[in-house]
Amino acid sequence: MSASELRCFMDFVIPLVRNAGKLLLEAKNFKIETKDESWDLVTIYDRKIEETLILKIKEKYPQHKFIGEESSAAENSIPELTEEPTWIIDPIDGTANFVRRIPLSAISIGLTINKQVVLGIVYNPHLNELFHSIKGQGCFLNEERIQTSGLKDINGACFNYELSLARRELLRNLYLYRLKHLIGRTEGIRSLGSAVLGLCYVAKGAIDAYQCDGLYAWDVAAGSLFVQEAGGFICDTTGKPEIDIMNPNFLATATKELSDQFMAIEKIADEERINNELK
Ligand code: IPD
Ligand code: CA
Ligand code: CA
Ligand code: CA
Repeated sequence: MSASELRCFMDFVIPLVRNAGKLLLEAKNFKIETKDESWDLVTIYDRKIEETLILKIKEKYPQHKFIGEESSAAENSIPELTEEPTWIIDPIDGTANFVRRIPLSAISIGLTINKQVVLGIVYNPHLNELFHSIKGQGCFLNEERIQTSGLKDINGACFNYELSLARRELLRNLYLYRLKHLIGRTEGIRSLGSAVLGLCYVAKGAIDAYQCDGLYAWDVAAGSLFVQEAGGFICDTTGKPEIDIMNPNFLATATKELSDQFMAIEKIADEERINNELK
C-alpha cells in the first residue's frame, strides 16, 4: 500500500471521526446499559458511532474488513485478523469516563495491513485533541508533530496502569505485587480510564510509561503505533520489541532504557507473586 493511498484513507476517515466526536459532545439523557459484567458499560453512542463508522468506510472501501468492540460483542465473537486491510474500531474508549462526564474518552481507529498497524486516528472531542499517524511518518497531535518525553530514569517517571482491569481476578494479584514494587520508585502513577489516551499521552511526552495487560486490539491498536512513531519503545512480556495486536500484553515507554528498568522491577514483583502463590 503506497503512502499516498494511506493518506487518502486518513483524509477520508478524519471527518467521520470528528462528526462522531460532535455526537459525544452533544450527548445527554442517555441510558447506561451493561454487557456481560456489571462494570462493562455501553450506551447508544458506543453502538451508533461504531455502526456509522463501519457503514461509511464500507461504502467507500467495500473490500476492507472490520474488527469493532461493539460489533464483536453483538456477535459474541471477535473476527480473526487477516492480511487484508482491517479497520480496528473502538467507538468510545473510556465509556466509564464518558458516562461520568470525565473528559477522557476518545474515538479510536487503527488500520492494519498484513496484520501490522499502519495508520491510527484518535480523537478526544472533550479536549479537542486529534492524534494521528501513518507508519513511518511520525505522530501528530492537532497537526503538530509529537515526541515521547525521552526520559531514561525511572525516578522521574510517570507511569500509567489501567487499574480497573484488576477487577479481573487473574490480574488483581499481578497488579498488587507490581505496584508494591513500583510505588515510591517512580514520580507517580496514573490510571486514566482510557487505554488509548494513556498511549497517546506517552506519545506526547506527558506520561513516560504504560503497562498494557489483558486489553483488546481496539483499545490499543492506534495508540501502539503512536508511541512507536513518536520515538518510544514497545516490548512484549519477554522484552522482545514486537507485539501481537490481537493479544496485546506490552510495555510502552518513552525510551528503551526506561523499559529495561521497568521490566527488571516487574520481573522481581512477578517472581515474588509466583513464589507466594505456590506456598
Ligand atoms: C476500557 C478502557 C479502560 C480500561 C478498560 C477498557 P472501553 O475500554 O480502555 O481504560 O481500563 O479495561 O475496557 O470499554 O471504555 O472501550
Ligand atoms: Ca466497553
Ligand atoms: Ca476500549
Ligand atoms: Ca469502547
